[in-house]
Amino acid sequence: MTRRSTVADAASEETLSNLGHEDREFPPDPAFTAQAVGKAELYEQADADREKFWADQARERLTWSKDFTQTLDWSDAPFAKWYADGQLNAAYNCVDRHVEAGNGDRVALHFVGEPGDTEDITYADLQDRVKRAANVLLESGVAKGDRVAIYLPMIPEAVISMLACARIGAPHSVVFGGFSSDALRSRIADAEAKVVITADGGYRRGKPSALKPAVDDAVKDSPSVLKVLVVQRTKEEVAWNDEKDLWWHEALEAASPEHTAEPMDAEHPLFILYTSGTTGKPKGILHTTGGYLTQAAYTNAVVHDVHPETDVYWCSADVGWVTGHSYIVYGPLANGATQVLYEGTPDTPHKGRWWEIIQQHKVSIFYTAPTAIRTCMKWGKEIPEKFDLSSLRVLGSVGEPSNPEAWIWYRDVIGGGKAPIVDTWWQTETGAIMVSALPGVTTLKPGSAQIAVPGISVDVVDEQGNSVDNGHGGYLIIDKPWPSMLRGIWGDPERFKETYWSRFKGIYFAGDGAKKDEQGNIWVLGRVDDVMNVSGHRLSTTEIESALVSHPKVAEAAVVGATDETTGQAVCAFVILRGDAVQEADEPGEGADLVAELRNHVAKEIGAIAKPRQILIVAELPKTRSGKIMRRLLRDVAENREVGDVTTLADSSVMDLIQQGLAKPA
Ligand code: WT7
Repeated sequence: MTRRSTVADAASEETLSNLGHEDREFPPDPAFTAQAVGKAELYEQADADREKFWADQARERLTWSKDFTQTLDWSDAPFAKWYADGQLNAAYNCVDRHVEAGNGDRVALHFVGEPGDTEDITYADLQDRVKRAANVLLESGVAKGDRVAIYLPMIPEAVISMLACARIGAPHSVVFGGFSSDALRSRIADAEAKVVITADGGYRRGKPSALKPAVDDAVKDSPSVLKVLVVQRTKEEVAWNDEKDLWWHEALEAASPEHTAEPMDAEHPLFILYTSGTTGKPKGILHTTGGYLTQAAYTNAVVHDVHPETDVYWCSADVGWVTGHSYIVYGPLANGATQVLYEGTPDTPHKGRWWEIIQQHKVSIFYTAPTAIRTCMKWGKEIPEKFDLSSLRVLGSVGEPSNPEAWIWYRDVIGGGKAPIVDTWWQTETGAIMVSALPGVTTLKPGSAQIAVPGISVDVVDEQGNSVDNGHGGYLIIDKPWPSMLRGIWGDPERFKETYWSRFKGIYFAGDGAKKDEQGNIWVLGRVDDVMNVSGHRLSTTEIESALVSHPKVAEAAVVGATDETTGQAVCAFVILRGDAVQEADEPGEGADLVAELRNHVAKEIGAIAKPRQILIVAELPKTRSGKIMRRLLRDVAENREVGDVTTLADSSVMDLIQQGLAKPA
């Protein structure tokens, strides 16, 4: 159930009025405009005839095995069909056609492993491996329509696996390698995956980090799984199940290199990607082939300004998130781009690792998250200044609101004071970029995602769904269907309608609060539901609360996202203990142990990214008379603010109790 909170609940009034008072503006450089892929005319073309615009994009950017006759079928809204009678194969579009066009020798992936190993993979190499992997999947019992779970580090096999699935029409469900075995198991079960593709492990902060044990754990209770394909990456010892496990390298070598990509209907499911919602259960967001690929390719071309012959592109996301799906795999590869794929963290073995990679590969387009920029800012500009970053000509950011100071730092220190920055707003559900400046076209405003990309229609509306005037705040909505829109929630059409289409009649509610400034630029303020954004990763308060309550010592838990300078938001949990645990926690020194135990428990249940920054043990939680937890008040405590209005609490002394309890020495 969606919580009907107000915008002010997500972003304080102060933030609302501060945002949009940014007067710095950066008009496009005419030299950039002259070469830009995105042109100002796109806006007029799209406004004049939106469907024709998207039909043109689909035909220009993709190769169709069978042309479509109808662009959009919205008769069964909110279930859209785009290009429905057209046929195409996503892997053919991302790989084979570039080889057929004579670009087989072009590097598709400059892989950089964390320990320093590298491999350049051309489009011809990629084609060979994708074809073999497709054959391995078929031999493992995967048929068109069957689901495959992918749980891998950021290595080329992640990209190859996704494309191999697309090639045979088996929707993939990539599960971020940082998620726990429990999280993996529930995703395998929900999608009834037939095969899991994983690795012995990957490298993380200078050390091998195992993945296979989590898969072994998940698979033993997963009746749907026939085979587990294991990539050898770290060569650490792994447990082996002769009936199920297959080494990737052995299977690929033995497989036939011949495979013809079969055309799929445009609406054939391409992938499921789980994301956190307002309830405890992650939603399997479903994307299909033609519309998704059209918008991923189009936005990657016009927003990132990709010139495939000359650019070296790098998106620092993980393929476990939608950013990796659309802007590492499908968008850039459909466009025939050359890109960097990096396995590790930005500070291994030193804090200049990213900038070293940019210098070495002459990266010209870089796409990352505001959290990363703020972290690098904290480390100091002396670090990037040691490297030659002059190849960079376009910078992008995604995942959370970017603040003007970080934006300016990004432009000056990383972009040499000239590279345009595109702040791109979109979601797992939207599939591709929706709101962003176009480099070379739009005058840039630091901190604002700015305007809908050509072909997309978004607005900011009030509680009643009416468009707000410039200078006012409200809810961010999308009022026209778009090609890469989600086609539903896997196995739950009702939840799809209820979650996205019921707040305002007939329009898509994104869950974000936003404000329009005097010029109509959109400033995204953050979520207005029970979803948190920690380092650009989406987490559900309810999901973490459920994880805490599943611990035998916890009676009740409330989780809030508190503002954090670096990570945007941080997870703060308030926990009521069960009877015996209360006494235990009161013993000298035991409280800290218990908090550590609970933090680890959340990591085990969901994954390390969900570990609360802070757990406060309290005697009571603030509740309304109807029993709803007032998270607003807990957020005040977590952010060290004076506690707001408590008059709607069933018992207004609860907040005093919480604060007295916190004042007690640990
Ligand atoms: C949520 C979607 C889109 C890929 C990464 C996250 C927030 C995303 C921005 C931005 C402000 C942003 C929103 C959105 N968000 N981009 N440029 N400015 N907020 O995908 O995990 O589906 O999360 O991320 O709150 O709803 P996701």
